[in-house]
Amino acid sequence: MATQTSFFGEEAEAPERVHHSSHGDVPSILKWTGSKRSQASRIAALAPEYDRYYEPFLGGGALMFLLGRPLSVGADLYQPLVDFWSLVRDDPDRLVENYRTQWRALQEDLPAYFYVVRDRFNQTKKPEDLNFLMRTCVNGIVRFSQKGDFNNSFHLSRKGMQPERFAKIVRSWNHRLRGVEFRCADFQESLSDASAADFVYLDPPYAGNKQRYIGDLDIERFYGVLDDLSARGVKWALSFDGNRGERDYNVELPSGLFRRKVDLQSGYSAVNKVLNGATDMVTESLYLNY
Ligand SMILES: C[S@@+](CC[C@H](N)C(=O)[O-])C[C@H]1O[C@@H](n2cnc3c(N)ncnc32)[C@H](O)[C@@H]1O
Repeated sequence: MATQTSFFGEEAEAPERVHHSSHGDVPSILKWTGSKRSQASRIAALAPEYDRYYEPFLGGGALMFLLGRPLSVGADLYQPLVDFWSLVRDDPDRLVENYRTQWRALQEDLPAYFYVVRDRFNQTKKPEDLNFLMRTCVNGIVRFSQKGDFNNSFHLSRKGMQPERFAKIVRSWNHRLRGVEFRCADFQESLSDASAADFVYLDPPYAGNKQRYIGDLDIERFYGVLDDLSARGVKWALSFDGNRGERDYNVELPSGLFRRKVDLQSGYSAVNKVLNGATDMVTESLYLNY
């Protein structure tokens, strides 16, 4: 196998390719844009031994389900999402009951009730309402306007997941999230207390589709944080450039920052397919500093 030299001064393996497997390992509690559910078990298999697990771009938290344990840290800039995860951890029964009540109200007043909740969420940002909207909006895909308002519509041909099925999913997530700490913070801040025995999985927003995320990312600052983590001996894995068919959306990570690159072919992007009718094969790269 060909090798490449990194800033670690050692020879590292050339890019490897890991093939697609099913979504089955992580129950779908929310479809966050850029979800890593389809790759989660392959990424988790590459994790080293660690004390604390950090996921500073938490989103739908696909890796947290597999790698989280007490004292892990999950963080995101979007407060309603962090509140949602805290609710799953702390009060799953309240979340399930709230969904049951709202689901019934929806069945009696389709689709008007959805828009009542959407307006209310955009005013109050309650995590129970975010959950209801995620369960009943078009294809379950969370989308925001420039202003930061939730702006997806009701999925007319569906009536929302049955409350019993939702309850089972919440219970399995609650089990995995016990003792996990959630922070609403910028990634740099949430990683400030990571130490050499810890492992970080980073899944920052893609360049070029900022409107589907809350927040922005300065790439030089981002590289600086990766470098700093390596200097502190913190192990990290990063999902970074997505090649979609012929189009390459992103830049390559500077070679001095990482030790290994693994290509994960993740099949056809569901989000891209829904939004753009595209059927491009998606390849995601995972960069490792160990
Ligand atoms: C690609 S998504 C993560 C998807 C996740 N891995 C999953 O499986 O669902 C990126 C997340 O980073 C968050 N984010 C954007 N900028 C951030 C920042 N500066 N610090 C922390 N989180 C940020 C977004 O709100 C979004 O939830």
